Amino acid sequence: MKNTKDQKTNMMDKIVSLCKRRGFIYQSSEIYGGFASCYDYGPLGVELKNNIKREWWKSMVQERDDVVGLDSAILMHPKVWEASGHVESFADPLVDCKSCKKRFRADHLLEAKGLEPGYLKEKPEALNEIKCPECGGELTQPRQFNLLMKTQIGPIEDETSISYLRGETCQGIYVNFENVKNSLRQKIPFGIAQIGKAFRNEITPGNFIYRTREFEQMEMQYFVNPQEAKKWYEYWKPLRMKWYEDLGLKKKNLRFRQHTKDELAHYAKEAWDIEYNFPFGSFKELAGIHNRGDWDLSRHSQYSGKDLSYFDEETKEKYIPFIVETSDGADRATLAFLVDAYEEVAGGRTTTTESTKEVEVVLRLDKRLAPIKVAILPLSKKPDLEKVAKEIQNDLRKDYMTDYDNAGSIGRRYRRQDEIGTPYCLTVDFESLEDKKVTIRDRDTMQQERVAIKELKEYFKEKLD
Ligand code: GAP
Repeated sequence: MKNTKDQKTNMMDKIVSLCKRRGFIYQSSEIYGGFASCYDYGPLGVELKNNIKREWWKSMVQERDDVVGLDSAILMHPKVWEASGHVESFADPLVDCKSCKKRFRADHLLEAKGLEPGYLKEKPEALNEIKCPECGGELTQPRQFNLLMKTQIGPIEDETSISYLRGETCQGIYVNFENVKNSLRQKIPFGIAQIGKAFRNEITPGNFIYRTREFEQMEMQYFVNPQEAKKWYEYWKPLRMKWYEDLGLKKKNLRFRQHTKDELAHYAKEAWDIEYNFPFGSFKELAGIHNRGDWDLSRHSQYSGKDLSYFDEETKEKYIPFIVETSDGADRATLAFLVDAYEEVAGGRTTTTESTKEVEVVLRLDKRLAPIKVAILPLSKKPDLEKVAKEIQNDLRKDYMTDYDNAGSIGRRYRRQDEIGTPYCLTVDFESLEDKKVTIRDRDTMQQERVAIKELKEYFKEKLD
């Protein structure tokens, strides 16, 4: 029997392999030998990630009166990043190995020894006892390494042309606070939500799409009266956890963790992470909920010279709004949903002879997240069957992502769909030509039922919408 660590490493290997084999996620620039820590989402991966983002947008913007959306530019005035504190403070502690020259995050080395994040600030001498995890060599003292990614804007390369790829999406929201408030006549409390790419020059990216240098965030900034910041913080915190639970992550794999004082980001008054039990190194950050106080709007007022305070018409109060932030990573969420949904059934679960002896993989993704909703499987390649099957697909694809598979035995085709999480397989057989019905198989229960072709739209509306 392998130990739990081996099983978990094994699990990660299986996820990475499934992602590549079935077109979820590929290594970037693979034909050139790959580009470290960058990944491309394949045909199924882009569907899964889009579905995650759509569900987030739906719960955050579409279903609410008090939150509106935004899509701000990745490139912004460089002063934004001075005001935000990122140029000065957005750094991780870096150590070098004096022998093999590899670089590590000092806080991660301490964490690997079972010490709490934040320990580095409390007791930096703890690092003296740690050797290089690669070669056992001596490590340098930690120094702060800034994570902002610099870029040049325009044809002249000098100091004035330096800008940054955004390190977090929320800064685009703060600089548009006045615009949105005025054009949409928003009254506090209200929120602005945005999904988009962020970039960080991470010292040690890794664990597949968990920590990369280019990633996608789903962030919502809720502007509140300072007196009510605590109340709204307590409102948003459980709501974010519920979102993951409602979309199927198992409760036992989720938990909250509060940031210690030493660990708090430069902008945060209070911060809690939602952690997920990832197959590498147990519980790790999946998302964050932060009370950012008046840090952002005060700093942007100061650096831009534009007064970003708010006047409350009812109470006649004037104040700089506090911000309650919810910050989720679309890539980390994708990884968590994949890991949580992955299940191996030893000995097989279908009754066809070729599959009974093998392990079968089922991706039990929530139906809303599944990349393909319905697979259409004609029992044979006979033209009259394929004609009916194609007509059904053309009808259903107006509403859902479908797949058409006419290759191999029906048992193998079911298994291929189970492995990518397709909730329904629809088989067109010879009887379908007579009774105008098809067989629908449910991924989870494996129950099959005959449904009239003319009732398919209603059937799937009830099951999927
Ligand atoms: N605006 C606040 C903020 O950016 P953060 O805790 O630094 O807070 C928020 O990041 C979320 O963004 C994380 O919980 C994670 O889901 C995602 N994230 C951060 N760095 C990441 C990276 N290098 N790779 C993938 N996702 C990352």
